[in-house]
Amino acid sequence: MRPTYLEVNLPQLRKNLEAIRAHVAPAKVMPMIKANAYGHGVDGVAPFIEPYVDCLGVALVEEGIHLRDLGIRKPILVAGGALPEQIPLFLEYDLILTASSAELLSAADAAAQSANVKLTVHLKIDTGMERVGAHYYEAEAFLEQSLKCKHVLIEGIYTHFANSEDPRLTHARQQLERFQEVLRFYEKRSLPTPIRHMANSAAILQFPESHMDMVRPGVMFYGVYPVDVEHSVDIAPVLAWKSHVAFSKITLPGHPVSYGSLWQSEVPTRIVTIPCGYGDGYFRRMTNKAQVIINGNKYPQVGRICMDQFMVNVGDDEVQVGDEVILLGNGITAYDLAEWMGTNEYEVMTSISARVPRVYRNE
Ligand SMILES: Cc1ncc(COP(=O)(O)O)c(C=O)c1O
Repeated sequence: MRPTYLEVNLPQLRKNLEAIRAHVAPAKVMPMIKANAYGHGVDGVAPFIEPYVDCLGVALVEEGIHLRDLGIRKPILVAGGALPEQIPLFLEYDLILTASSAELLSAADAAAQSANVKLTVHLKIDTGMERVGAHYYEAEAFLEQSLKCKHVLIEGIYTHFANSEDPRLTHARQQLERFQEVLRFYEKRSLPTPIRHMANSAAILQFPESHMDMVRPGVMFYGVYPVDVEHSVDIAPVLAWKSHVAFSKITLPGHPVSYGSLWQSEVPTRIVTIPCGYGDGYFRRMTNKAQVIINGNKYPQVGRICMDQFMVNVGDDEVQVGDEVILLGNGITAYDLAEWMGTNEYEVMTSISARVPRVYRNE
């Protein structure tokens, strides 16, 4: 196997799920496993977690199809925007459609009628994200329309927070109020309310009023708290990114390291080469900022990060070819990488490319 790999701690993933479940009970939990399970590798994550969940969430219909191809049988909600021409795929693969507009809902109803089946749907209300969904101020007509669609099963209704990380929750409270107002539609007509859901990780952690019937944890399912949000649930990261030293040598002063000659030492120093680069998602813009751990010590990355390799200055230490290198985990967090990359913890994890093998630890 490649000496650069991701180690995924599956038992910790389950602990995170159980901790979330205990925190939100009696609400159900739908882990979001879109974007290759936030980079953790959906092929390992989905079959492992399936027995413990009621349903799973993805963003794209293609991701839903991939889960079915993996043998996943539990309900799968496709949360992203879908095109009308993709509706037959929802029928074929038994995926739950997010009906985000009157047009999509009509197309879904018509497609289900011609296929002579019922298509399960969750209605999407836009309460302040301005991404997809029927606007809350026009939702009544949308919900009226949904009652007339006889070939779809309106199983759920949901919305998505734009700003639940803000500790003041000002915008989040406004979104909750708007959503509650939309939901009064069912009360007023004495109709059963479909499954209501809105909470992402930050809302799960700091906005219990929003838990409703189901929650949709993404980043916290993988053990990472959204930045600045209170740690009200006991979770831990499941990911470690590891490699091994591929080359070790002394570099002399006046001999700059890597493309662009951006860094050089003033004294003879040991420079080791790690077989991982921006082609793996170890971003080039971390050049001369990142750190790694080798034999328990932190060392600086030096010289331009290349596509497939980068260099580390270990000074006078006796680091050898084959020594383990930790790029993420055991003292280097997703927030550290996010800071060095100039992004957030989500992008760090989802950017680790398919070229990096995922190794699943199950004990
Ligand atoms: C519709 C939807 N629900 C839930 C989530 C999970 O969000 P988080 O990772 O912040 O928990 C996402 C992710 O962006 C999403 O798009």
